[in-house]
Amino acid sequence: MSRRGKFITFEGLDGTGKSTQMRKLAAVVRAAGHKVVETREPGGTLTGEKIRKVLLDSGTAGLSPLAEMALMFASRAQHIAEVIEPALAQGSIVLCDRFTDSTEAYQGSGRRLGSQAVRELHRVLCGNLQPDLTILLDSDAAASVSRARRRNKRNSKAASRGHSDENRFEQETRAFFTRVYEGYLAIAAREHGRVAVVDARGTPGQTHQKIVELVRRKLKL
Ligand code: TYD
Repeated sequence: MSRRGKFITFEGLDGTGKSTQMRKLAAVVRAAGHKVVETREPGGTLTGEKIRKVLLDSGTAGLSPLAEMALMFASRAQHIAEVIEPALAQGSIVLCDRFTDSTEAYQGSGRRLGSQAVRELHRVLCGNLQPDLTILLDSDAAASVSRARRRNKRNSKAASRGHSDENRFEQETRAFFTRVYEGYLAIAAREHGRVAVVDARGTPGQTHQKIVELVRRKLKL
């Protein structure tokens, strides 16, 4: 039987460059000879990607905050069962773009549903699975969100032709993203052993170097 793998999650506001950094880290870890699984939330499975469409499409109107949180967890429970746990059991390094910290920051703090509800649901629906390391990319909140908005505007041509887009969260207010940001900092303060805050204000290359050093130091990969 192979040794259990490692579970690394990427967190941060929209537009902090999580996806780019995850791709770059995956290449380095693969080159070091490890099996790597790259995945994301909401999504990561066929069912999860369907749930993702409902959650992110700006055409989804009037979704209640509780229903939003429940769908995030529905996607996650399926993702853990179908992808994350089997990959860890086979000894893979699983890199995941967002996990339960996103729910705590966005629904718990942003939507004001509270941390307690999120942590309770995580225990019941996710078997309290904890990442071995969480990389929280920190950059200027306003700049990140405008970057995400610009990117999604470019992608929303499809939406104007009647297809779904991924803009629902980007339409939130500045106050919402400030709460999300503060939610993330509170998680990092509470769980400083697991969550590493990485300054992402430099170039993507500089941020990548910081992440590689962190992963080497913390997980000895
Ligand atoms: P993502 O595709 O990572 O967006 P971006 O690349 O812009 O960071 O995530 C989609 C959105 O879903 C993002 O706005 C954050 C939101 N989200 C939550 O609100 N709660 C959650 O639990 C997750 C996983 C994502």
